[in-house]
Amino acid sequence: MEKTGTTFQAFRVEEAEGKYSGSIQAMPFEELNDNEVLIKVEYSSLNYKDALSSIGNKGVTRNYPHTPGIDAAGVVKASNSDKFKEGDAVIVTSYELGMNHPGGFAEYIQVPADWVVAMPAKMDARNAMQYGTAGFTAALSVYRLINNGQKPAMGPVAVTGALGGVGSVACQILHKLGFEVIAANYELAPETEIQKIKATSQIDRNISDDQSGRPMLKTQWAGAIDVVGGNTLTTMLKGCKPLGNVTTCGNIGSGELSMTVYPFILRGVSLLGIDSQNCPMEMRQEVWNLLANDWAIDFNEDLIKETCLESIQKHIDLMLEKKSKGRIIIKM
Ligand SMILES: NC(=O)c1ccc[n+]([C@@H]2O[C@H](COP(=O)([O-])OP(=O)(O)OC[C@H]3O[C@@H](n4cnc5c(N)ncnc54)[C@H](OP(=O)(O)O)[C@@H]3O)[C@@H](O)[C@H]2O)c1
Repeated sequence: MEKTGTTFQAFRVEEAEGKYSGSIQAMPFEELNDNEVLIKVEYSSLNYKDALSSIGNKGVTRNYPHTPGIDAAGVVKASNSDKFKEGDAVIVTSYELGMNHPGGFAEYIQVPADWVVAMPAKMDARNAMQYGTAGFTAALSVYRLINNGQKPAMGPVAVTGALGGVGSVACQILHKLGFEVIAANYELAPETEIQKIKATSQIDRNISDDQSGRPMLKTQWAGAIDVVGGNTLTTMLKGCKPLGNVTTCGNIGSGELSMTVYPFILRGVSLLGIDSQNCPMEMRQEVWNLLANDWAIDFNEDLIKETCLESIQKHIDLMLEKKSKGRIIIKM
C-alpha cells in the first residue's frame, strides 16, 4: 500500500465551550477493517451540509472533533473488500460520509466498500466532483421523472431553484435530453444566467409560489423538479398537466406540504420523492454512468471555483453568509 508517512492532512472541526472552529491537522491512518477501503482523495466539493457540519449543526453531525466533506473522488490505496482493488478510481457520496463518518476534506478517507461507486470510464475525479451530491441529486430527479413516463413531447418541465447546485444541473440534463425547460427562481434572473443553464424561459415566485389558495391551477408545465418545498412544491403539483411527474428533494422554502388530493385524482399527477443519501447502489451506479455518458453536461467554468484544503474555511464562511455562487471543488 502506498502511503506517504504515518499521518495525512485533514480539515478538522473542533468544539470548545459551544464554539466550533476548523483547522488543518495531521491525522493518523487507522487499521483497515473487513470490507473497508482506503481512498486517496483527489477532489472533494463543498455543499451546504458541510457548512452546517462546520458550525456544529447536530442534525448533520452528532460528535466532534470531525472531518466534514460529504463528497469525495479519488483512487483506492488499500482494500479489504473483493469489490475494489488498489488503483481503482472511485467516487463516494452520501451515506454517512462527512456527516457522522470522517469526510472528504482530507487527503485520505476510509469507508465501507458498500458506499463506493466505481468511477465510470470517461469521468475523472474533478468531473465527478463538479457534479458532487448536488449534481447526482439532479440526475436522480431526472432519472425518476423519466422512469415514471415523462417525455419531452408532453411539454416543458419546470425546475425550481434553477440557478442553484441541484437546479442548474437538472436544467442542463433535461435540455440535453430534449426537454423544454422553465427556470423557476425566486426572482427573475438576468437572461445570460438563464442561457448558461440552458433553460428556455423563466418564471418567478409570482407564478411558482401561487397564493390564490385554489386547489388546482391552469396547467403551465408538464412536469417539475422541485428543491424548494412548501407552497412552491404545492404550486408545481397544482399547475402540472395530466399524468405529469413532480419530484421533491429539498426544503429551502419549507418542509410543509398542504394541499388537496385533486391534482393526483383528477389529473393523475405523480409526486416522486428523491433521497440521494439512501439511493440503492445499483441505481446509484447507473445514474453516475449516465452522467459520464449520455447525460454528461459541459460545465461552464464560470460556475466552478477550484480551491484547496487550506482555503476551505473562507469558502464555508461565504456559503454561510449566502455570498457563495456556483460549485466549489477542492483539489487535495
Ligand atoms: N433529497 C436529497 O437527496 C438532496 C440532495 C441534495 C440537496 N438536497 C436539497 O435540495 C435543496 C437545494 O440544494 P442546492 O444544493 O441546489 O441548494 P443551492 O445551491 O443553495 O440552491 C438553491 C437555489 O434555490 C433558490 N431559492 C431559494 N429560495 C427559493 C424560493 N423560495 N423559490 C425559488 N428558488 C429559491 C436559491 O436562490 P438564491 O441563491 O437567490 O437564494 C438558489 O438558486 C436543499 O434543500 C438541499 O438540502 C436534497
